[in-house]
Amino acid sequence: MIKTVTTIADLRSEIRTWRQAGETVGLVPTMGALHEGHLALVRQSRAKTMRTAATLFVNPKQFAPHEDLATYPREEADDLAKLEKERVDLLFKPEASEIYPPGHATKVMVEGLGDILEGECRPGFFTGVATVVTKLLVQALPDAAFFGEKDYQQLQVIKRLARDLDIPVRIEGVATVREADGLALSSRNAYLNQEERAIAPALHGTIAQVAENVGRGSGAAEQAEWGLEQLQRAGFAKVDYLTVRDAKTLEEVADASRPARVLAAAWLGKARLIDNVAV
Ligand code: PAF
Repeated sequence: MIKTVTTIADLRSEIRTWRQAGETVGLVPTMGALHEGHLALVRQSRAKTMRTAATLFVNPKQFAPHEDLATYPREEADDLAKLEKERVDLLFKPEASEIYPPGHATKVMVEGLGDILEGECRPGFFTGVATVVTKLLVQALPDAAFFGEKDYQQLQVIKRLARDLDIPVRIEGVATVREADGLALSSRNAYLNQEERAIAPALHGTIAQVAENVGRGSGAAEQAEWGLEQLQRAGFAKVDYLTVRDAKTLEEVADASRPARVLAAAWLGKARLIDNVAV
């Protein structure tokens, strides 16, 4: 069985033992329902550091009241088996009261970067993410922490908060893991029915085409509009955004004259899918 701790004190004590032996530490924060995308983070951590700790905490503060906190997939036994198989050294699995004890009142807000795109569609989301990730980083103080590029804006928000708050942890992005048809792995893909699952790969197909066209010199705005129409035609019920942005600041760009990223979010039934690719 994978060694599991539930308190911050025990997490710190385990990490202290590693530190005393001169070992480097990687942290892989997750909300569980683990898939190959999460395991890629674990593998990267194991490749780059001597010890890997994963966290499993479905953070209530990053769900709006109308969102899927109650129904978010929870597969703890499976998760533990997968982490054990990947030879993760330690799992931190706190209760909500350990992370947010009574009287907890501090929020971490990343202005600007956290207010656009996902931040606009899901108000409060990045404040919830930034608050819990800041706490996890400070609790564990690893050498490096690993996050998927699938949540590209989240990765940029976390890089920014670590820099702004002088948290001495290297934030590393790990490439998105995809199904053979291009669909990015996500715990929320479980919400797709058979018909929706058949439509879903069009999200990646479309943004990949937009990225290629912009890379070849087409205008970003015109391509974003084309992509949006493609998604509607493919059967996406609602497209929250499809846009070409600066790869770091996520400000709008007109073309590919600086490193850029195509990002999109769209709905299929109950599932809100997000994806992104480099131009
Ligand atoms: O990407 C996720 O799974 C979550 O947003 C994270 C980073 C674990 C924070 O709860």
